Amino acid sequence: MQHIYISNIADYEGQEVTLHGWVYNIRSIGKIWFMIFRDGTGLIQCVVVRSEVDQAIFELEAKLTQESSVSVTGIVRKDDRSSGGYELGVKSIEVHQYTENYPISPKEHGTAFLMDNRHLWLRSKKQHAIIRVRHQIVKACRDFFDDNGFTLVDAPILTANVCEGTTSLFSVDYFDTTAYLTQSGQLYSEATIGAHGKVYCFGPTFRAEKSKTRRHLTEFWMVEPEMAYCDLDENMEWAEKFISYVVQWCLDHCQTELDILERDTTLLEKVTPPFPRITYDKAAEILKENGVDFEYGSDFGSADETILSAQYDRPVMVHRWPVETKAFYMKLDPKNPDLALGVDVLAPEGYGEIIGGGQREDDHDTLVERILRHDLPMKPFQWYLDLRKYGTIPHSGFGMGLERAVTWITGIKHIRETIPFPRTIYRLEP
Ligand code: 4AD
Ligand code: MG
Repeated sequence: MQHIYISNIADYEGQEVTLHGWVYNIRSIGKIWFMIFRDGTGLIQCVVVRSEVDQAIFELEAKLTQESSVSVTGIVRKDDRSSGGYELGVKSIEVHQYTENYPISPKEHGTAFLMDNRHLWLRSKKQHAIIRVRHQIVKACRDFFDDNGFTLVDAPILTANVCEGTTSLFSVDYFDTTAYLTQSGQLYSEATIGAHGKVYCFGPTFRAEKSKTRRHLTEFWMVEPEMAYCDLDENMEWAEKFISYVVQWCLDHCQTELDILERDTTLLEKVTPPFPRITYDKAAEILKENGVDFEYGSDFGSADETILSAQYDRPVMVHRWPVETKAFYMKLDPKNPDLALGVDVLAPEGYGEIIGGGQREDDHDTLVERILRHDLPMKPFQWYLDLRKYGTIPHSGFGMGLERAVTWITGIKHIRETIPFPRTIYRLEP
């Protein structure tokens, strides 16, 4: 028999169906009791009337507990008062397990407790909504690049290459040598554009971040496009088109979830191209005007990012950064070699950096110098240097942190709720 889900319940109005899931909540008014029931695709109210069911079924009201697993059979009825527009007039209930002492009750719990019970917390309404938005964002990312002629070419997770600095590397014993968990797929995408022109990779990336902030995970997912024959300006055009597409997709497909999360979507509706573009120098000026004691040449802290993003109603792109703030692979600005052709995209409402990217150094000898200047071992970069020997080209790309995007689009406070099982400095379980 075909498995019927709450998400498709409208197709079965007036028919008898069996739904499989878990008890969310029960309340009784004497001759009738109501069970809010969930099956992973949604919630539905099930109505049990004493005169319409066997006594044994009616008496389940006293026995069923939150998260007991049950299959419910009944008639689908239109009901404008219930949230999904339908309810189930129950005929019978099959109990698979009576759950005892489910740790997460509808009352308030502390975050540490909820994180320890993450494997169960994921069943709660808000967490369910966040993970569904995450799924739609992943889909929108893939669709955007697929529809714009990019080829998906994934990068390895075990690598010999440093990409984003040596301080945040995770090393792993790798037979007789040491491997790193990848910080970014970028260097590999710079190779695969030589084969495919426009590529993207999308996978988990790792940073041994010792900082305990609302924005950092040690394992996060990144989607990274890379384009051959593309300069910084065109790179920024891709970034703004991409983000706007993803946000619009969520507005069109995640209304239910964004309502549950009480997201003010009017702010997301403003996210359309063009995004403001300001130089790092201009950003530093804005900070000074706002009374920040900002040291030119340093990276922006999250308080700085909040001030910068507050100037605009859509993401702002900060470009041309002091060389020392950026990685070895960034191309230097031909007009001012103290600046790197990098770009950071800051989300509105103080959600901070969601994208980092830029134009890459395409000259062999300059790149060798840069690797040396960053004190990186030359041997693992031989293959990367080959790319500057065999048909080098101007090229650019960027990486969007998936969880940063989910945090912003869902409007939640902390990045740890945007990934099913977050990894942070103090958390490896569950
Ligand atoms: O700015 P980042 O370090 O840039 C790169 O890794 C480039 N190689 C990407 C590229 O050009 N292909 O990281 C990119 C994005 C950041 O803007 C942020 O959204 C996210 O990755 N990110 C993190 N997200 C969660 N936790 C962390 N510890 C993160 N570090 C970076
Ligand atoms: Mg960055």
